[in-house]
Amino acid sequence: MKFIICESYEELSDLGAKIIAEQLQKKPDSVLGLATGSSPVGMYQQLIKMYQEGKIDFSKACSFNLDEYYPIANEDPNSYNYFMNDNLFNHVNFTEGSTRVPNGSVADPDLECKSYEQAVLDKGGIDLQVLGIGPNGHIGFNEPDDQLFVHTHVTGLEPATIEANARFFESAESVPTKAITMGMGLIMQAKKILLLISGKSKKDVFEQLKNGMVTPQNPASFLLLHPDVTTIVCL
Ligand code: GLP
Repeated sequence: MKFIICESYEELSDLGAKIIAEQLQKKPDSVLGLATGSSPVGMYQQLIKMYQEGKIDFSKACSFNLDEYYPIANEDPNSYNYFMNDNLFNHVNFTEGSTRVPNGSVADPDLECKSYEQAVLDKGGIDLQVLGIGPNGHIGFNEPDDQLFVHTHVTGLEPATIEANARFFESAESVPTKAITMGMGLIMQAKKILLLISGKSKKDVFEQLKNGMVTPQNPASFLLLHPDVTTIVCL
């Protein structure tokens, strides 16, 4: 894992956007794995700016997001579907149908998990996976536990995660208690990973990564086993 320490969130965002732009230059039809949360927002703004300046083209690329709350309507402003439309997809030139976020409004979430995972595999897996990280080390919604899931699955959310995400909702009680998330398998099979660690609440988890120990109690620590992870840090 390569660490790049930044002085500011702007620097983190610029560097992240450059890595995505390089990926699309090298392979215009890249399969991008995208993330929500506050960490990538500045990077998405930077990508929109680059698109408006004609420096980046998403027309041949496709994307899969890591996760979505369950149950939640796609139009709900707190859904990750809405978040991605609002923060990126509505402002750049992905073609219709080339971006996918797990659907939190389906009747059968297990079926959605299977079809989502298969859709990623049918594209040949993810070329560049963007990740944020929870203060407890979760990636996507793979929460600390004795065992971690390999495949896309429905999961319960930890109280700490509900609390961390409550800022986006009216109250902690209105945060959905479940989510659909990619498992560790699709993430670890990505050819390249870009991990964004932003904010003071991530200090402990960052220290744990630097210590170089792998444990399911810190799901992000498995990334230490991946051959091509760039971690951009701004605490
Ligand atoms: C949510 C998402 C994660 C994200 C995390 C960190 O829990 N499911 O994918 O990485 O938030 O969020 P933030 O970047 O706002 O700290």
